[in-house]
Amino acid sequence: MLDFTDFDTRNYRTVDVATGYGQWVDTYEDTVQDAMDIALLDELTAPAWRSVRRAADLGCGTGRTGAWLRRHGVPGIDGVDLTPGMLERARERGAHDHLVEGDVRTSGLPGGSYDLVISSLIDEHLPDLRPYYDEAWRLAAPEALCVVVAFHPHFIMTSGMPTHFTSASGEPVAIATHVHLLSDHIAAGLGAGWRLAEMREGLVDERWLAVKPKWERFRNHPVSAALVWRKDG
Ligand SMILES: C[S@@+](CC[C@H](N)C(=O)[O-])C[C@H]1O[C@@H](n2cnc3c(N)ncnc32)[C@H](O)[C@@H]1O
Repeated sequence: MLDFTDFDTRNYRTVDVATGYGQWVDTYEDTVQDAMDIALLDELTAPAWRSVRRAADLGCGTGRTGAWLRRHGVPGIDGVDLTPGMLERARERGAHDHLVEGDVRTSGLPGGSYDLVISSLIDEHLPDLRPYYDEAWRLAAPEALCVVVAFHPHFIMTSGMPTHFTSASGEPVAIATHVHLLSDHIAAGLGAGWRLAEMREGLVDERWLAVKPKWERFRNHPVSAALVWRKDG
């Protein structure tokens, strides 16, 4: 497995996930860009969102993904996250039916109950992807889909940038970041039993450059990826 420190060009102080998101929560929605994940969800040809009955949103954060799912007609959504402050925002937003404080790898949600398992922008916080894909498989009903939107390994390596935020005192702080090759996703997904049904990569395009002009040097570099997995019945 790759070690992010081999690529780190920022050398920010690093905190664990719950500490980091607990401090980022107030400004998180101002900094995360829809171009990173929502734009990829918009492009997917599967799932047929309106036919999804019940979704598990793993690493639901403040509920951005849940709100998008609601807008696309998903009637039942359960969310799991380990950061209480992020969950509190999701609760205020009201897109989810049930919100659980817990780890996505041992979610405690009922097995075989979801026709969609979805995660957006959490893979870089997991040291090993296999327990995630195994848990998604456990939660999935026959014929279910699993959608994973990932921070692209190429971008992490090229930019040398961890997931980070600016603290209340103005200090840039990194949240423990791991680099997963796309082949790590493929191996972990296939290993859990999933079949890859679709994949997209998001590039640093004009939409990105409009909000991040300093990223001109990354023009057309892949920054995120979406994988759609199917549980054959
Ligand atoms: C970048 S945010 C993404 C939130 C949301 N999915 C979105 O797209 O806005 C990452 C979230 O994953 C959560 N997270 C990271 N690792 C986790 C784990 N092992 N179990 C549960 N939640 C986790 C963090 O607490 C945080 O809320």
